[in-house]
Formats: sequence, structure tokens, C-alpha cells
Amino acid sequence: EPSADVRWLGTPISALKRMPECGGEPPPLKDIPGKHTVMIMTDLLHKGTAPIPSPAKFQDTWDDVHVKMPCSKENLFPVIDEVKRATNINRSLALSKVLEPDAAEHLFNSLLPDMVQLAMRASELCTKPIPLLKRGMNHSITMSQEQAACLLANAFFCTFPRRNSRKAEYSNFPDINFFRLFEGSSPKKIEKLKTLMCYFKSVTEQSRCIFQLCFSSQTRLTKLHITCEGTIEDDGSGMLQVDFANKFVGGGVTSTGLVQEEIRFLINPELIVSRLFTEALDDNECLIITGTQQFSKYTGYSQTYQWGGSHQDATPRDGWQRRCTEIVAIDAMQFRNFLEQFHLDKITRELNKAYCGFSRPDTDSKNLAAVATGNWGCGVFGGDTRLKALLQMLAAAEAGRDVAYFTFGDNRLMTDVNNMHSFLTQRNISVGK
Ligand code: AR6
Repeated sequence: EPSADVRWLGTPISALKRMPECGGEPPPLKDIPGKHTVMIMTDLLHKGTAPIPSPAKFQDTWDDVHVKMPCSKENLFPVIDEVKRATNINRSLALSKVLEPDAAEHLFNSLLPDMVQLAMRASELCTKPIPLLKRGMNHSITMSQEQAACLLANAFFCTFPRRNSRKAEYSNFPDINFFRLFEGSSPKKIEKLKTLMCYFKSVTEQSRCIFQLCFSSQTRLTKLHITCEGTIEDDGSGMLQVDFANKFVGGGVTSTGLVQEEIRFLINPELIVSRLFTEALDDNECLIITGTQQFSKYTGYSQTYQWGGSHQDATPRDGWQRRCTEIVAIDAMQFRNFLEQFHLDKITRELNKAYCGFSRPDTDSKNLAAVATGNWGCGVFGGDTRLKALLQMLAAAEAGRDVAYFTFGDNRLMTDVNNMHSFLTQRNISVGK
């Protein structure tokens, strides 16, 4: 047993690379048809000013390769009626019963009307058709934080057409409309709503910059810092932060789930926008989301999760005015039979999934920040922490990145993984071996 006062092992965390210090400037932001959809004017991008939507006028598209917008003339359900209906539902919302009278008054007289206004600005703010990121596509979408807020306000009021049941055309996409969050009145759902309302309060009080999503396809061990204290989001700033994802990104964030991925989507709610257009991830796919902001703090985990008040995000912005927060969604396999994961085909799948999340073939490895990760696939998904730690170290090495590993309180695991890493590096054992 390691002594209890050892809180970390390996390389000091200060020796691992972080953004923006380690990276080069991003190339000029440019819309490239078929490759990168930029929803803002790129020549008018300035520090501290809200980006301007591009094009100037709403382009109404209603087809099966773009998001169907609530403001389309093809939408048979007028948005105003939908919003009224949702607001009525919200009046009976459990949240209003747990709020202090002052807070409830603010909710109904100020916050919800502001959110309605924000939702109704979709045709003014989100003028460019948003491509659906379908399986096998390698495509980026760049939008402003204001555009993201407008899309999320629509998700809150459940106005995205064809998205209130999982039947038919969007069956392979995550839920985007928030209707399941308003069902029932479990304490977990109340805490989720509090976290999201903190975001809406912040974005309706001040307009703001930018974040991006991109689909990516597909040595010797690198440095490892391993600790039983801290979390990916608190201590991995500027590193590539792993989202322990579901193949439907965001997992149960708009329904009942409340573990690592859902919590991250709640405290950085702009992540939820990805559900609007990201088809289920394939085995060799990941989703990279750069530039989301943290709006809330939290305490507890799962059953004990509680909204912990608003958070001031001090992460610096890059040349595209995005927060230097890069999150990669990779979905581990779910194992019901413990031994199954040691079969070669399963090991290969997990190695490739991690590698496709960590690898950046177009970037020199000296400019790549460390990977901030932990027990990926080892909670709800039932994986073995030691095997998964090894596979992630191999994938990170192959991708040319160091690793900061957060064991989430597990002291024994910290020692074992560090021993495994020392054993392999001292003997100069290669990834292939
Ligand atoms: N930082 C570091 N480690 C963490 C953190 C954190 N913030 N939070 C949790 N852990 P889990 P999975 C550790 O179960 O098994 C969701 O519904 C902690 O030890 O979230 O890959 C998704 O949508 C925890 O037990 O990931 C998927 O459907 C472990 O990470 C499904 O869960 C695993 O967290 C994925 O399940």
C-alpha cells in the first residue's frame, strides 16, 4: 500500500504541455465548402466583440443533410406557439416549486422572457445552414457563443422540428430538445436544471465568442503524471481533456444520466449544441470541441451531484477568439462480461478509439498539449482501470502526447499505473511490443 500522503507520482504536472503556451497560432479562420462551415464573418473577428453572423440573411434549407431549423418556413409548428406551450409546461415545472419566491419571480418575469427572445432570434443569428455531421464525414463547424446560446434556447423550448421523438429521420442522432428534463421532479433533474439556468442567466445578461466542432477519423511511452487528487476539468486546463462519452455525444444529459460526460455538458452547456448535428460516433470516430466555456461549478457526483454556483472562466482565448479548452468525446465499449474486454478485437477497438481522439496528424508533436484523462470506460461502462490506463498511455505515446491521469481518489491505482509506466520505460519497451 502506498503511504496516504503521496498524492501524485511520475512527472510533475508543471512539466506537461498546455495550450495556449505549447501551440502555434491557428491558421486564419476560413470557410471551406465541404470541409469547414464557418457561421460568422471571419474578417470582422476582434477581441472582446461578438462575432457577426454570416451570411447577412437567413438561408432557409430543409433537407436531410442540414439541421432543420425552427425558423424555417417549412416548419409546420409555429415557434411562438411551441414557446408558449413550453413556457406553460415550465410554469408547472418542478424547479419553480423549489425556488425561493424571489428567484421564481425572476425566472418567470425576466429570465424565461429573455430566453424566448433569444430563441426567436434564430433566423437573425443562425443564418447559414448547419450541416449534419454524419458518420464517416470529416467536417468542422465554427460558430459564435451567441449562436450556440440561441440554439440552446431553442433546445430548451423544444422547438427543433422532428426532434421530439427518436423515430424516423433523426433516430441515429442524440436528443437535442430538453423535454425529458421537464418530466418528473427528481432532485437530480432539479440540480441539472439549476446548472443550465445559470448558463442561460449568464448568456441573456451579456452577449458575447467562439467554439468549434470537428470530426476526425483515424515509439516509446511518453511522460506520465498520475494523481489521486483533482479532476480533468479543474487541473487539465490547456490540455486535451477527455470526455468519457456515449456514442450519442452527451449521453443522458437531457434525460437522466449524471456522470462524467453529463456533468461536463452541464457545466459547459455549449457542448450540448453538438447533439443537434452529430450522428452516433462510429468505432473509428471522435468529436473534438474547442472553445466552450465553463459557466457553473458543481459538488458531488451522480446521486450526490449538486449545482455549486456560477463559475468565472478565466481560460485565455486563441487567435479565433475561442477559449483554449479542447475536449474530445471518445466512447469506450460497454462491457457486461468483465473478461470480454481482454479479447484482442476489443483491445484493438479501444486502442484505435483513443488514438483517433488523441492523434493530430497535421500538427507537430512538440505543439501538442498533454492528454488529461482518467478512468475512461471504467464507471458505468464497466471497464478495467488498469487495462484502460495502459491502452490510453499507448495511444497517447503513438500520438506523441504526454499524459496527466486523474484516478479520482484511487490511491492504489495511482501506484499500480505508475509502476507499470516505470517498468515499461525503464526497459525501453515500445508501443508495438
Ligand atoms: N475527472 C476525472 N475522472 C473522473 C471525473 C472527472 N471529472 N468524473 C468521473 N471520473 P463514467 P464511462 C472517473 O462512468 O464508464 C455516461 O452516461 C470516475 O472514477 O462517466 O466511460 C456517458 O454518456 C468514474 O467512475 O464513464 C456514457 O453513456 C470514471 O471516471 C457512459 O456514462 C468513469 O466515468 C460512459 O461511462
